[in-house]
Amino acid sequence: MTTLILGRTLAFDADPFAVPPGDAATFEHRGAVVVERGRIVAVGSADALRAAHPQADRIDHGEALILPGFVDAHVHYPQTAIIASWGKRLIDWLETYTFPEEARFGDPAYAAGIAARYLDLALAHGTTSVCSFCTIHPESVEAFFAAASARNMAVWAGKTCMDRNAPANLRDTPRSAYDDSRALLERWHGRRRASYVVTPRFSPTSTPDQLDALGALWSEHPDCLMQTHLNEQTDEIAWVRSLYPQARDYLDTYEAHGLLGERGLYGHAIHLTARERDRLAEIGAAAIHCPTSNTFIGSGLFDMGLAARMRVGLATDTGGGSNFSMLRTMAAAYEIAQLRGTALHPAQLLWLATEGSARALHAGDIGRLAPGGAADLVVLDLASTPAIAQRVACAEDVWEAVFPTIMMGDDRAVAQTYVAGQAMLPRG
Ligand code: GUN
Ligand code: ZN
Repeated sequence: MTTLILGRTLAFDADPFAVPPGDAATFEHRGAVVVERGRIVAVGSADALRAAHPQADRIDHGEALILPGFVDAHVHYPQTAIIASWGKRLIDWLETYTFPEEARFGDPAYAAGIAARYLDLALAHGTTSVCSFCTIHPESVEAFFAAASARNMAVWAGKTCMDRNAPANLRDTPRSAYDDSRALLERWHGRRRASYVVTPRFSPTSTPDQLDALGALWSEHPDCLMQTHLNEQTDEIAWVRSLYPQARDYLDTYEAHGLLGERGLYGHAIHLTARERDRLAEIGAAAIHCPTSNTFIGSGLFDMGLAARMRVGLATDTGGGSNFSMLRTMAAAYEIAQLRGTALHPAQLLWLATEGSARALHAGDIGRLAPGGAADLVVLDLASTPAIAQRVACAEDVWEAVFPTIMMGDDRAVAQTYVAGQAMLPRG
């Protein structure tokens, strides 16, 4: 069966951090995406594709903009219920809000309920793929992969390992972290659209022995990603220095234990030393920018200049981040770059939220509106509220038409979300 999804289309042909951003994409005012068996087989003008596929089913989104589904490269799905918790900075925030909530995920029914709630919220906000931390409980990983599989979503996730500086009911050991992670990896990695991610929470909550154990697991499964946190807050960095006095810097606490690699995802990466920046770029690792989290928890201003040197993904960091929306996340990335003296182009923001994050995850199959990829799509109404509509009325090109939705849009702008060609939202 062939389906023609009609609307405006915007397809990137190049990295807008490497070419003039306005020239990085092809826009069709009357465009179409042809979908067969969950995959994109063609993208182009509606007239040409209607003629080429006369028998195809048609879904017409009118003037709405069809993009690749958003890819959120760093979330904590177990923090869904405590998003927007008031008044704390990182370490206090973890102890006050996060750890008590994460302690509930040993209960498979609770974990299943939040996994379903989280993924449905992601879809409602146009996000089709995420890379999530779970909790120390294997049940939390099972629940997440099962809920994603039921929705046919491509997801990345792993058991969050901690063997110190966390409450007793949230601690594992070097041995159990290795054994549980390995069992989950063997069960889920590569099953349908699931990928397992080796997941030490961050250096302060792992002993060197646990980091060694997870470094060994990663080296035994080099096709897996590894995710953690790096240089988020200055207090945290000082704590890392006291816990690892022999390390050259925060990144070295990972590097010394086999946890620095091309498939490594380093969340936040704000307060980097010159050595850390150079080393991440040399290795080809990914920095994941979490802008609403970085302002909400008061962490600092990410340097988007890194995007010219290394993979950079974009992420909500739910629930340290204050929103499920990648639109709001792009807006925050724009604001942070402005505070550092750079105006990110709408093409750069949209690319980071789709192909940029997909590249960080080494996922060639998602994040692009191109033949061969999965038909994971978001359809944006570019006039979803009166405030946005009146601004769009005088837009002169696609970038001016989409920017008000980036800055002011939310889930009301999401007309539809497709996963592998299936519409996921109960909308007309
Ligand atoms: N660093 C270690 N754990 C976390 C977390 O859950 N959220 C954020 N924002 N930073 C962290
Ligand atoms: Zn995080």
